Amino acid sequence: MRFCKLLLFFLALSLSAVGGTVKSPDGNIEVKFSVDGRGRPLYEMSYKRMPVVLPSHLGLELAPDKHASMGMREHDLMDGFTIEDEQTSTFDETWSPVWGETAIIRNHYNELAVTLEQHWLGERPAGANGARLVPRQHRRTIVIRFRVYDDGIGFRYEFPQQPDLNYFLIQDERTEFRMAGDHTAWWLPGDYDTQEQETQQSKLSEIRGRMDQAVNWGNSSVAPFSRTGVQTSLQMKSDDCLYINIHEAACADYATMHLELVDAETKVLTTQLEGSSNAYTLNPLPSRFPLPEPMTFVSHLTPDATGLKGAMQTPCETPWRTVMVSDDARDMLASNLILNLNEPCAIEDVSWIHPTKYCGVWWEMIVGRGSWHYTNDVPSVKLSSFNYQLSTPNGTHKANNENVKRYIDFAAKNGLDQVLVEGWNVGWEDWANMWKRDVFDFVTPYPDFDIKMLNDYAHSKGVKLLMHHETSSSTQNYERHMEEAFQLMNRYGYDAVKTGYVGDIIPRGDHHFSQSMNNHYLYVIKEAAKHHIMVNAHEATRPTGLCRTYPNLVGNESARGTEYEAFGGNRPDHTCILPFTRLQGGPMDYTPGIFVTRLSEWSDNTSWARITIAGSLALYVTMYSPLQMAADLPEHYERFDDAFQFIRDVACDWDESIYLEAEPADYITVARKAKGTDNWFIGGKCDENGHKSVIKLDFLDKGRRYDCTIYADAKNAHYENNPQAYAITKKRVKQGDVLRLTEAPGGGFAISLIAQ
Ligand code: NOJ
Ligand code: CA
Repeated sequence: MRFCKLLLFFLALSLSAVGGTVKSPDGNIEVKFSVDGRGRPLYEMSYKRMPVVLPSHLGLELAPDKHASMGMREHDLMDGFTIEDEQTSTFDETWSPVWGETAIIRNHYNELAVTLEQHWLGERPAGANGARLVPRQHRRTIVIRFRVYDDGIGFRYEFPQQPDLNYFLIQDERTEFRMAGDHTAWWLPGDYDTQEQETQQSKLSEIRGRMDQAVNWGNSSVAPFSRTGVQTSLQMKSDDCLYINIHEAACADYATMHLELVDAETKVLTTQLEGSSNAYTLNPLPSRFPLPEPMTFVSHLTPDATGLKGAMQTPCETPWRTVMVSDDARDMLASNLILNLNEPCAIEDVSWIHPTKYCGVWWEMIVGRGSWHYTNDVPSVKLSSFNYQLSTPNGTHKANNENVKRYIDFAAKNGLDQVLVEGWNVGWEDWANMWKRDVFDFVTPYPDFDIKMLNDYAHSKGVKLLMHHETSSSTQNYERHMEEAFQLMNRYGYDAVKTGYVGDIIPRGDHHFSQSMNNHYLYVIKEAAKHHIMVNAHEATRPTGLCRTYPNLVGNESARGTEYEAFGGNRPDHTCILPFTRLQGGPMDYTPGIFVTRLSEWSDNTSWARITIAGSLALYVTMYSPLQMAADLPEHYERFDDAFQFIRDVACDWDESIYLEAEPADYITVARKAKGTDNWFIGGKCDENGHKSVIKLDFLDKGRRYDCTIYADAKNAHYENNPQAYAITKKRVKQGDVLRLTEAPGGGFAISLIAQ
C-alpha cells in the first residue's frame, strides 16, 4: 500500500461499566455515554462546554424475519441493554491520499467502545422433530464505538457474530441527534431517489412549512418521505455561532441515512394507512417509545423494494454517524473527519489513478442544441433487432466523428487530458423513464462514431477519450454487460468512465440510495478497479468518504450540478453551500466553466447561468475535485481565451489547502498549493450580494517571488446583466503582500501565483 505511515501509539484501558466519557485530543469536544432506566443507550456531545447534541437515544428496530426461530421484533436493538464493558484508546497516524486537498492527513482521535448486552428468556424447539418448545435464555451483544476528533465525532453500531444475532432485517435505525436550539439549517428535502434539489435555508422549526415548496421542483425520479425529512450532509449554524454538520462515513453494504426532524407538530402514527395517504406525510416513528423532544433528528434509512431498510449478516457494522462542530466555519471545510473514518486504501497498485481535466461533447446536448440519439425514424428501439445502419441519421447527433475530433483538437491545444463523449453508443432513442430493462449494451457505437479511429486520433495528440455509461438505472442490465464494457475500454485505451442513473430503479420498486443500490455502486467501483478504470458516478448515492478506500472513485455528481443552469438555473449562493454539504463526503463532478451564461445567445434555451466568468474560474479552486471539466463549448473559450488561461493553468491535485474565509451560502475563499510544485492558486466565490476579500499572502515561501495573475470581476460586473465583465491584472508578489479584491454579485475571483 502506498500510504499509511503509522506514526504513534495505540493504547487500550478498561474502565468500570457505569457509562463513559471521552474527550477530543484538544479537550474541546466531550462525549458522554450511558444507558437510561429502560436500558436504552444514550449519548450527548458538547463543544467548549456548549451543548451540541443533547442526551439522545441510540438503537435499531428490527423487522420480523420469516426465517427467524425467535420473535426478533420483541427484541429490537432498542432497549433492555446493560453495559458490559468499556474500552478507551488513543490513535494518531498520518496518511497520504492518492489525490486530495492536502498531501498528508492526520488521523488523531480518542475512542470509547462500549459493549452492551441484552438478556431475555425465550423458547427454543426441542425433541426429535422440534415440535416441542422449551425455555431458553437468550443473550445478545452489540458494540457502540465513538471516535472523538478535534473537529467532530463519529460513532457506529457493531454487531459481532453470535447465536442470537446472526442474520437480521432492519426495520429502521433509530439514532437520535437532539439539537440544542432552533438552528439555521441548509437542507435538501429527504428523498429516496434524488439529491438534485436547490438547498433550502431556514430555521429547523420552519422545515415543515417549507417542505411543499422544496419538493415541488420536478425531476424524473422523486420520492420524498416526510414533511420534516432532510438529507445529509446537513449543515447548521446555531444562534451562538456554532457550525454543526451531520453526515455519515463509510456507507457500504448499508442504506443511505436521512434525518427526520421531530418538531412541535410531530405525532406518532398509529396505523400505516395514516402515513400512506400522501407521498410525504409518512412519519414512521415507532409508537412503543415516547416521542423524542422537539428539535431531535431521528435517522431514517432508505428502504429497498421490500420496504425494509437492511439485511444484515454478522459480523457487521453500520456506517459511522458523524457530527462535526466548530465556532469557525472554515474548520467545516478543512475537516478530514469523513475520510479518516473510512478504511485505508484497498487498492494495491494506484499508479494508474490520476487527476484529470477534461472537456466534452456534452453541454450542447444538455442545452438542447444537439441530441444523444442518432435517428428519429422510430419511437423506440429493440437493441437485439434494430438495424441502425439502415436508419436515417437525424443530423443532430453530436457524438459524430467530425465533432468529436473538434473537441480532441481543442483538448490537445489547451492541455486538457480527456474528452468525454456522451451519446456514442446505441440505445439513446428511448433511454429514459420507459421501464426498459435492455436499454444499452455499452459496447456498440453508433454508425457515425468510429471508436478505433477516434481513440487513435486522440492518443496521437496526447489526449484520451472519457467513456460514458448511462445505465438509465437499469442496474441488472449494467451488471450483465459490465465486464464486456470494461474490456472494450481497456482495448481502446479509456481509463475513466462517467456512469449515470437517470430515472427510477429497475428492477422496479428499489430506490437510488438503498442498501442494494449502494452495493451496486460499490460493485461497479471494485470491478472497474480490476480493469484500472476510474469512476465518476452521476445520480448515485451521495458520497461518504469511500474514495479513501477506493481512490478510483474520482467523482460523483450526487447533487444539483451545472446541468441545472440549462434547466432553470442554480441560485448564485449554490456553490457557496455545496462545499459545506455535498462535498463533505467526496468530490463533486460539478462541471463548471460556463462563460456564455445566456444560453439563448446560441440556442433556443432561455435558461441562464447565474454566475460571472470570474466566478466560474473560482470554482476550479473552491469546489475541490481531482476531476475538473471545462464544460462550455470550445468556441466560447476561444472567445475569452485570456480568461480561459486560468483553466489551462489551474491544478487539480494539491499538497496544501488553506481556507482563508468561509460562511455558508455567503462566500468561500481558499488558497491551494499545486501538487509537487511551489505554485499556488486562490479562488474566491460569493453569493448574490458580492463580497470584499483581503488576502494576506503570508503562506508564500519567504524570500521567493511569484508571478501573480488576478482574474477578477470588473467594477460593473453582475451575474445577471454583466457576467462577462472581468479584469486580468499581473504583478510580482512576495510573502506578506496583501491583495484586496471585490467580488461582484454572483461573482468571484481566481488567482495564480507561479513561483520564480
Ligand atoms: C444526467 C447527468 O447528470 C448528465 O451529466 C448526463 O449528461 C445525463 N444524465 C445523460 O446521461
Ligand atoms: Ca444529474
